[in-house]
Amino acid sequence: MKQMVEPWLASVICLLTSDLMPLPPLLAPSLLAGDHANLAASARAVADCGAPWLHCDIMDGHFVPNLTFGPETLAALRRAGSKLFLDTHLMLAEPQKYIGPFAQAGANLISIHIEPAYDHRGTLARIRRLGCQCGIVVNPGTPASSIEHLLGDVDLVLVMTVQPGFGGQPFRRDMLPKLREIDGWRRARGLDFRLEVDGGIDLATARECRAAGADTLVAGTSFFKAADKAAFAAEILRPA
Ligand code: DX5
Ligand code: ZN
Repeated sequence: MKQMVEPWLASVICLLTSDLMPLPPLLAPSLLAGDHANLAASARAVADCGAPWLHCDIMDGHFVPNLTFGPETLAALRRAGSKLFLDTHLMLAEPQKYIGPFAQAGANLISIHIEPAYDHRGTLARIRRLGCQCGIVVNPGTPASSIEHLLGDVDLVLVMTVQPGFGGQPFRRDMLPKLREIDGWRRARGLDFRLEVDGGIDLATARECRAAGADTLVAGTSFFKAADKAAFAAEILRPA
């Protein structure tokens, strides 16, 4: 007969394990700061320094005032041999229309913003049905409470630490309380989604974000400007 653990005991175990075993930190270099004339080489530079994730910023000129690349670029990276985990950040006014093409192109995780009006929960479920992990993203001006009801439905929460649209912007230190709030909910509920930060992340700001509960660090400018990328990757993940 199947042994059942009492629900109260399961909550206690979750609480204890989430406190004792935080998720290992991960670096996700952002391709946006790579060489757009040779994105495959930029992806190789990420793989060569041992970072398993590649953050892919998809912009539509509507939700954000900039344009980048689409699913064909991800498919081309796969054809060029990239085995990186493609962490795909959709900055789109209508992300629900593009889930299929990005999953088909080889995305491993697809994150969608909470701000536009569409069926968020249904879209997250569809991302999972297509075999990808799913994430929800909040802009700096959007409170954490806007995504609280979705925390049990996601593999990742992305807290933007700049207004999205461009790389190279200064880190928004006023986002640290939002990280603490979401990390607090994660612990209290025994959830295991990753907590990612994106925008203005370098060795110093990464440390502040990790102290506030973030475990997944997107770094564009700071990573691609680093002369020794392997040393940068090792240093940003070094235990405090
Ligand atoms: C901003 C993008 C970021 C960007 C971060 O809209 O979502 O991923 O690449 O770039 P840096 O690290 O340069 O701030
Ligand atoms: Zn991003």
